[in-house]
Amino acid sequence: MITLKLATSLDGRIATAGGESRWITGEAARDEVHRLRAAHDAVLIGIETALADDPELTVRLAGHGGGQPARVVLDSRQRLPLDSRLVRGAGDLRTLVVATGPADPALTAAGVEVVEAPDLGEGRPDLPEVVAALRERGLARLFVEGGGQVAASFLRCGLVDRLEWFRSPMIIGGEGRPAIGALAVSALAEAPRLRRREVRELGEDLWERYERI
Ligand SMILES: NC(=O)c1ccc[n+]([C@@H]2O[C@H](COP(=O)([O-])OP(=O)(O)OC[C@H]3O[C@@H](n4cnc5c(N)ncnc54)[C@H](OP(=O)(O)O)[C@@H]3O)[C@@H](O)[C@H]2O)c1
Repeated sequence: MITLKLATSLDGRIATAGGESRWITGEAARDEVHRLRAAHDAVLIGIETALADDPELTVRLAGHGGGQPARVVLDSRQRLPLDSRLVRGAGDLRTLVVATGPADPALTAAGVEVVEAPDLGEGRPDLPEVVAALRERGLARLFVEGGGQVAASFLRCGLVDRLEWFRSPMIIGGEGRPAIGALAVSALAEAPRLRRREVRELGEDLWERYERI
């Protein structure tokens, strides 16, 4: 099961042009994201999000006694900094980097599992192969938290089963970073379509849940 999560402005932006994204949605929405993380085997992001936000990708909920999901970064060239929170926490929490070349010994020494995946031809790992490799490692339920390029890749490959969309009553404008990067859709018939299953208010924000048709 692959879930894509987006936390956006009303106009579908996930960050300003400069990359600022904290915080677009409010506390209630962020708590719900932590509950969703806890229901998946791994949280997955792209390297640009790791570089911009230096996230921990952990479940931080009052009273949470359950386990923590693994953290996965799609990072073809292994640019994840050794002093990032993800690498510094790799000794305690399972942390994987998906690359297109052999493992960087500095990352493995820090406790990061480097998964070498075949190159799609654009210097990036082939996503269906990545999903299969993660499943083989016991990580079947993936929670994809962006950014826009990674979201687009999962959608382009038809790999998104569920979409959790948190929408804040804020407008960032066209210079902002799009929630979903280029999809190469040239006709509406080619656009991925989803079915809305639920809508809920979370404080000032809206939470919409969609599923693949
Ligand atoms: N509001 C939110 O919920 C939210 C969530 C996440 C991120 N953000 C914001 O989004 C921004 C980053 O998003 P972004 O779209 O620029 O980058 P991104 O999706 O986080 O990362 C893209 C990078 O991931 C690597 N990658 C490896 N395999 C890939 C694949 N199959 N498909 C796509 N990318 C792949 C590529 O770098 P290599 O070629 O070097 O591997 C690519 O440049 C930041 O400003 C962050 O703050 C906001």
